[in-house]
Amino acid sequence: MSGDTINLTLHVWRQPGPKAAGRLVRYQAGGVSTHMSFLELLDVVNEGITARGEEEPIAFDHDCREGICGMCGVVINGVAHGPQAATTTCQLHLRHFRDGDTLFVEPWRAGPFPVLKDLIVDRSAFDRIIEAGGYITAPTGGAADANAIAVPKESADRAFDNAACIGCGACVAACPNASAMLFTAAKLSHLAALPQGQPEREKRTLAMVATQDRLGFGACTNIGECAAVCPKSIPMESIARMNRELLRASLRRGRGRG
Ligand code: SF4
Ligand code: FES
Repeated sequence: MSGDTINLTLHVWRQPGPKAAGRLVRYQAGGVSTHMSFLELLDVVNEGITARGEEEPIAFDHDCREGICGMCGVVINGVAHGPQAATTTCQLHLRHFRDGDTLFVEPWRAGPFPVLKDLIVDRSAFDRIIEAGGYITAPTGGAADANAIAVPKESADRAFDNAACIGCGACVAACPNASAMLFTAAKLSHLAALPQGQPEREKRTLAMVATQDRLGFGACTNIGECAAVCPKSIPMESIARMNRELLRASLRRGRGRG
C-alpha cells in the first residue's frame, strides 16, 4: 500500500449463462485508489482481464453510478451492497476496505432473481409487481398548477420517504425468505399516502401483493435484513403499513367496495 492505494484480493462469481455452472474466480487488484467506487474497482479488474485476453470481462449491472437508478448491486462478503449502510454498490468507496482485504463478490441470490451472467440477475419480477399496480386515475388536459392539490405535510413526507425506493432488489437478496415485501410496501405506501393514489388504492394493493406471491417471493417473518441493507433506508414500518393496507382492501372487497 502507498498513500491512498490498497491491495485487494477478489473472488468473483463467474457464470457464463443462466443454465451454466458458476464458480468463484480469484483476481488480484493491486494499488487501487481508495477514492474509487466499487464499480470502478470492477472496471479496473475488467481492464486487466481484457488486456490479458484470457476470458470475457466480468458482467455486472450499472447505469447512473449515483445511487439513483437501482441497476447496480452485488453481494460483498455476504452483505447486499457491501459493508456501508444506506449505500448502493456504485456509491461504495474503497476507503471502507482495508489494505490486504479479501472480498467475495456474488450476485443477488434469490429464486425469483435468476442469474443471467456473472453478477447480473434478472429482476424483471419487480417490473411485473409494478405493472400489476396499474395506473392512477388522473384528469387529462393541461398540467395542473403546482400545489393545486393540498397534501398534508406528514403524508407528503411519508410518500416521499417511500418513493425513495430505487428497486435495486437488495431487500430480496438479503432476506432468508427472498421476500419482496419491503419493495412492494414502499411502492404501496408511497401512493396510499397521496390523494392521487386513492381511487385505485384497494385494487392496487390486492393486485401487487398477489403478484409478488405468485412470482415466488417469500413472506415476511420480521427478520429485518431487508431494511438493514436497503440503500434508501426504507423502514420495516412500511411493511406493517402494507399489511394494514391489505387488511383494509380485503375487508372492503368483502363488502363489495374494493
Ligand atoms: S426497498 Fe430498498 S432494498 Fe428494496 S428495492 Fe427498494 S431501495 Fe432496494
Ligand atoms: S448504478 Fe444507479 S444506483 Fe448504482
